[in-house]
Amino acid sequence: MSKPGEFVGSLDCGTTSVRFIIFDKHADIIAEHQLEFPQYYPHPGWHDHDATEIQVHAEQCIEAAVKDMVAAGWAADSIKVIGITNQRETAVAWSRKTGKPLCKAIVWTDSRTKNVVAHFEAKLVETGIEVTPGEWKKGKDGVEALRNITGLPLSTYFSAIKLRWMIDHYPEVAAAHEADDLAFGTVESWVLFNLLGGAATGIHLSDLTNASRTLLLNTTTLKWEPSLLAFFGFRPSILPKLVSTSEVYGKIAAGALKGVPVAGLVGDQQGALVGNKCLKQGEAKCTYGTGAFLLFCTGGEIVKSSHGLLSTIAYQAGPNAKPVYALEGSIAVAGSAIKWLRDSMAIISSAADVNDLAAKEPTSGGLYFVTAFSGAARAYTNPSHIARATLEANAYQTRAIIESMLLDSGAPLKHLKVDGGMTNGDLAMQVLADVGGFTVIRPEMRESTALGSALLAGERD
Ligand code: G3P
Repeated sequence: MSKPGEFVGSLDCGTTSVRFIIFDKHADIIAEHQLEFPQYYPHPGWHDHDATEIQVHAEQCIEAAVKDMVAAGWAADSIKVIGITNQRETAVAWSRKTGKPLCKAIVWTDSRTKNVVAHFEAKLVETGIEVTPGEWKKGKDGVEALRNITGLPLSTYFSAIKLRWMIDHYPEVAAAHEADDLAFGTVESWVLFNLLGGAATGIHLSDLTNASRTLLLNTTTLKWEPSLLAFFGFRPSILPKLVSTSEVYGKIAAGALKGVPVAGLVGDQQGALVGNKCLKQGEAKCTYGTGAFLLFCTGGEIVKSSHGLLSTIAYQAGPNAKPVYALEGSIAVAGSAIKWLRDSMAIISSAADVNDLAAKEPTSGGLYFVTAFSGAARAYTNPSHIARATLEANAYQTRAIIESMLLDSGAPLKHLKVDGGMTNGDLAMQVLADVGGFTVIRPEMRESTALGSALLAGERD
């Protein structure tokens, strides 16, 4: 006899792997399955994903985790709802008619679109954006208008730039665009479309957190911004319908979870903010992975940064709820600096060893590790100084971002919650608190991203 459960599933579609985690109501993990999927780097600066591979891996993870749950004695229908969380900004283009991708997805890390950015920078300055009918903003005002509307600068990072490149370089995408057959989405949009039945049901949605990374969302009106569609030259028919981060979007069409509602959609960094319960102004989290993403909740206020930070939507707890916003800053080199100590410097044999090595010295001996890999190593510098300087570099960068956030928001930092691989090191976290001068909280349960999407799904409207 199997036991009945009341569980929530979280499908975490990250940049290098997909995971499905099943949580009970105490946020304990009942079962999980993770699969890496292929990465494509066809040219320098290019980074592609095959959207179908993401979907297939996601479905395999669901099947395998459910199998493990059942093998552990739980009833097959114990999962009552699931949420999806995902790598953000990655652009997917598919055909509405066939439900198939029209080209490889362009990943958030990809930098092939530098010329597209340069083109739109010039256009912003010379022609500008028609912010209301007949009212054009150009030059500096144009740049500011774009930031005011979206919270973002023009950059290769954001999805609209990647989509423009696809339309300009892939004839299939251009033809679908012309024929109103093109569906554009970020990864949550694509995965949800497929789970809910693909082209047969045609459910094409995107949540506000992911939409706020496209350069097409007006973060004040919470609508797709017509002036930006015109600016980038997109037909409105490409766009998903906007939804909150917590509501029932539909039911899974097939497989082990057939009939289970999907009720949470959230970008992974915002998911970690929710999973860390940083839901109010002044509460912040940093996820230390290969790079690090720091989000500072600004409550119901959109704070426009004067220090190069992004303004983003943190979550919207239901279609009628007010959105909550965040400031975001990132560190390009975090865990990757430790990997460099391991793989290139060979002064540690595993990433975790950095803490033990750094603990052998009370200071970095005057060495500063700047991520350009220079610094002022002296004759008496030893590997422990280097290890400690690496931890300090991470802490200094975190502090710099927090200082900008405090200046921009005018609100005090209540605490910084941390998760991600690097946070397993006690010394790394102590150095962070010492250098930062703020309270660092390392929760015991650090699957914050997946937990955030599960919480949003569990608390759906
Ligand atoms: O903005 C990119 C971010 O969402 C990627 O997160 O965890 O997949 O590297 P991750």
